[in-house]
Amino acid sequence: MALYIISNRLPLKVSKTDNEYVYERSEGGLATGLSSIQNFAEKKWIGWPGIFSDNEEEKEEIRAGLLSENFHPVFLSEDQIRDYYEGYSNSMIWPLCHYFYTYIQYETKFWKSYQYVNQLFCDEAVKILKPGDMVWIQDYQLMLLPALLRERIEGISIGYFHHIPFPSYELFRVLPERAEILKGLLGADLIGFHTHDYMRHFISAAYRVLGLDSDLDEIHYNDRVIHVDAFPMGINYDLHHDAILDKTVQKMANQFRQNFGNHKLALSVDRLDYSKGILHRLKGFSLFLERHPEYRGKVSLVMVVVPSRDKVDRYADLKTKIDEMIGAVNGTYSSLDWRPIYYFYHGFPFEELMALYHIANFALVTPLRDGMNLVAKEYVAVKRDNPGVLILSEMAGVAAELKEALIINPNDVEEIEAALLEAMLMPEPEQKKRMLKMQKTVSKQSVNKWASDFVTELNEIKMKNFLLQNKKIDIKSLKQIIEQYKRAKKRLLILDYDGTLVPIMKLPELAIPEDQLMQTLKALAADKRNSVVISSGRDADFLDKWFGELGLNLAAEHGAFYKAHGKWIENSATTFPEDDELSNIMQQIVDKTPGSRLEIKKTSMVWHYRNCDKWLADLREKQLIHALMMPCARLNLQIMRGTKVIEVKTVGFNKGTEAVRLMETDDYDFVMAMGDDITDEDMFHVLPAEAVTIKVGSISDYARFSMPQHDTINFLNSLM
Ligand code: UDP
Ligand code: G6P
Repeated sequence: MALYIISNRLPLKVSKTDNEYVYERSEGGLATGLSSIQNFAEKKWIGWPGIFSDNEEEKEEIRAGLLSENFHPVFLSEDQIRDYYEGYSNSMIWPLCHYFYTYIQYETKFWKSYQYVNQLFCDEAVKILKPGDMVWIQDYQLMLLPALLRERIEGISIGYFHHIPFPSYELFRVLPERAEILKGLLGADLIGFHTHDYMRHFISAAYRVLGLDSDLDEIHYNDRVIHVDAFPMGINYDLHHDAILDKTVQKMANQFRQNFGNHKLALSVDRLDYSKGILHRLKGFSLFLERHPEYRGKVSLVMVVVPSRDKVDRYADLKTKIDEMIGAVNGTYSSLDWRPIYYFYHGFPFEELMALYHIANFALVTPLRDGMNLVAKEYVAVKRDNPGVLILSEMAGVAAELKEALIINPNDVEEIEAALLEAMLMPEPEQKKRMLKMQKTVSKQSVNKWASDFVTELNEIKMKNFLLQNKKIDIKSLKQIIEQYKRAKKRLLILDYDGTLVPIMKLPELAIPEDQLMQTLKALAADKRNSVVISSGRDADFLDKWFGELGLNLAAEHGAFYKAHGKWIENSATTFPEDDELSNIMQQIVDKTPGSRLEIKKTSMVWHYRNCDKWLADLREKQLIHALMMPCARLNLQIMRGTKVIEVKTVGFNKGTEAVRLMETDDYDFVMAMGDDITDEDMFHVLPAEAVTIKVGSISDYARFSMPQHDTINFLNSLM
């Protein structure tokens, strides 16, 4: 299967030296991780090649060079890189998502450029994508792209992965363009994050900013279902685990060991970034040397900082501070035969990096915030059965997986100092035991598994959305339904009320039928061939008040009562019991949940929470169901979840049993049922396969068709 990856940067950086193009691997977890995915027959990659050019011939040459690797360049100008990449992406979104609120720099032109460049990526992608293709968009630089692509090409399946943290709503709301960004992302079919926390934050932002409800990991938006899930990214485990078996890497490792001398080594490897906690780490190491003079001369910190985004002010400032602090620590503690910190401000080729991991006694991975952090996983994998200690920040996504590391709060320099001491003192068997456990975790969650889990879920959701689109009543199926209707001699039409014939309102008493609906129902009922039933959860009084004169059949309280030939009949002999415990539970939940209310019907009690804060309602819903379990078992009552309601009702009837009863009242040759609620599923389920069952507002497994609520009256009119 061909997979199109779209990311800001290609995994190769192009530069020109002495009239020759040089291709180097790009830094950062996204590029290193995604380049090692192997399980796709064809992988095409669209992204920025890291070089500026105004010359069309030169661009063509680069394009041709990259094409042999299946890479498609998107050329960006220096201004675009300044405003879209250094500006909006790295001076706005990056600090925001990493909780560096005060580092945000905002200019309107940054946002304009971000929109423009996302559009540019879309235009380039459209040139090579075809309907039916699978596209996987990567990271925060391209958050508008999912929606842009969805608008331009039909039938493509779009995934998006967010490689950095997604902040809590309280922070995300700061973003002036929060709604546009969310709408951009919601163009995807599947949105992935490294951890459940980020996923939770995203779902909460979609609810608070756009008012979108979610059902576990699904968000319904613009007639589509969007899945949100956590996929912790991994590494190419075998590549790292076996690296030291390579003779060259072994030679390098021996050489490095000799060069560094005989003392222990703590290693840190990061891109230059304030989110990586480099200054806190240096403070922690310096404190360790200050408080434990006995270890001076016995341990050095090897600090690799890979240059990154150094045109952004905050990064340039950080570089100066790191240089100064390392100078100060080395100046204070160095001796003639020992240096506390070895500092490298450049990247290392893969083999050298592996040799460094191999000889390092400890790894210090202490970001203040990090989406995942692959360096921690790489260190663990390279260690094989050698001892080694991973000191790991709880603020990195990877901390959710590597529980056997020494977990620290990176803001607390004393914790870093204490962890260094613990690492120095940890017996080797304990080190190996922890390493082994972490290796098990890292080897299972490899980068290939990460990618295939993501793509498998993307395929599943693609099928679901395909079915959803297929269930929508189009011109062809509408014509067929009308023909069947016209041909039929005896028709049964069962219609739900709230959410089907009228939109769901904030307060149930506001959902009253308008003239147009009354006319439609009147006209339907006037046809002698029709038996029109409103089957609702509402009570008999409400239904009688509005529809009593129209000559319709009515079913109230989910089939507990029905009205036929002008008379109300009770389906169930059971009346709702009077019970203090039950009443108290229901009343307490109302008192504790502002905006919620209680409805008391003859056969049920209903807790309505449509107007409540979602987070609070979710909590209260669970508490209520939990509290109701015992009394409902004792009283033989049923707990039913509806749309924003929890209903406690007597057993023995539902909209399904009522539908069965209705079916038996005559020999119908056209049966149709429409409903929006979970309670309507009961009738869809029991009706014969050829019945026209229509789920309003979403799709259901049981209903054959789906339809938006605003189309229902027009649809009913079109039958006549
Ligand atoms: N890396 C590299 N060359 C170096 C140092 C690091 O290619 O000289 C790689 C490292 O192996 C890792 C990635 O850069 O795969 C860093 O990823 P991580 O997730 O730790 O951090 P990010 O840079 O994505 O924030
Ligand atoms: C992080 C980001 C990636 C980015 C990488 C390198 O891993 O999540 O999107 O590619 O850093 O940063 P750069 O700005 O050099 O592309």
